[in-house]
Amino acid sequence: MKLEIEGKTALVTAASRGMGKSIATKLSMSGVNIIICSRNEDTLEKTANEIMNETEGKVVYVKADVSKYDDIKKLILLGEKKFGGIDILVNNAGGPPSGTFSDFSEDQWMETWNQNFLSVKRLSESVIPYMKTKRWGRIINIVSTTVKEVSDVLILSNTVRMAVIGFSKTISRQVASDGITVNNILPGAIFTDRWKQLAEDTAKRENISSEDVLKNSAMNIPMGRYGSPAEVADLALFLASERANYITGTSIQIDGGLLKTVY
Ligand SMILES: NC(=O)c1ccc[n+]([C@@H]2O[C@H](COP(=O)([O-])OP(=O)(O)OC[C@H]3O[C@@H](n4cnc5c(N)ncnc54)[C@H](OP(=O)(O)O)[C@@H]3O)[C@@H](O)[C@H]2O)c1
Repeated sequence: MKLEIEGKTALVTAASRGMGKSIATKLSMSGVNIIICSRNEDTLEKTANEIMNETEGKVVYVKADVSKYDDIKKLILLGEKKFGGIDILVNNAGGPPSGTFSDFSEDQWMETWNQNFLSVKRLSESVIPYMKTKRWGRIINIVSTTVKEVSDVLILSNTVRMAVIGFSKTISRQVASDGITVNNILPGAIFTDRWKQLAEDTAKRENISSEDVLKNSAMNIPMGRYGSPAEVADLALFLASERANYITGTSIQIDGGLLKTVY
């Protein structure tokens, strides 16, 4: 299958580890210029070098926290300066901490709002004008299956990610005639540092080992295993490609059959 995205430029945020890193790697393998960011510069530099060694592509990295507007402006300027503009935006960020409604302060709610919703809104509105001039663009948001079936211990994620769904559906309709698609990926249980951290949180709460938590939760997945970041990256790559021209305003779950819900 020809993806036809060689020479385009992608900004993949929160990409020093996990799904962001895999998505950046697969896009780079397909000839896309890459900009990645995260908060720890050492890990980021190491990741950028690993991707360049593996793909021989162009990879630029910049330390940036997507919950901060000034850092977002810096990212967009870098994209313009290095590559002329951003054709493919993958909105990714760290996951909010686990807990229930009495566990979080007002500040923690605001941090999640800034990191997991306002980042998506700010980055999207910053790249759309350039995409419109090209009459082509891709916005892909990494969200979560919690928007279809809530997790009892992820109230911040359950709540704030819903805003991403409402926002992206609305803008997808407003930019569709400009050749820009906007879609959400809803990962289920993907084996990354985030997933390991959530397993440790559950282990502490339930006073069992994190190995047992990991074993039990894998048994609840019809495929009997966790997903890999590379499998999520394959979906992102398809949505970024010319082959997904007519797909917009959707939320696609990738969960090994975990969700029981039909819609
Ligand atoms: N893994 C799953 O099963 C799963 C399922 C559903 C949804 N999700 C969501 O998908 C997203 C990615 O998850 P993952 O599992 O790939 O996570 P991960 O392996 O923990 O990696 C998170 C990445 O985000 C960066 N990051 C965190 N906060 C950031 C910020 N404010 N600004 C910039 N970069 C930031 C981290 O680097 P630094 O710490 O150096 O910044 C790291 O590169 C998260 O929002 C997560 O909640 C994950």
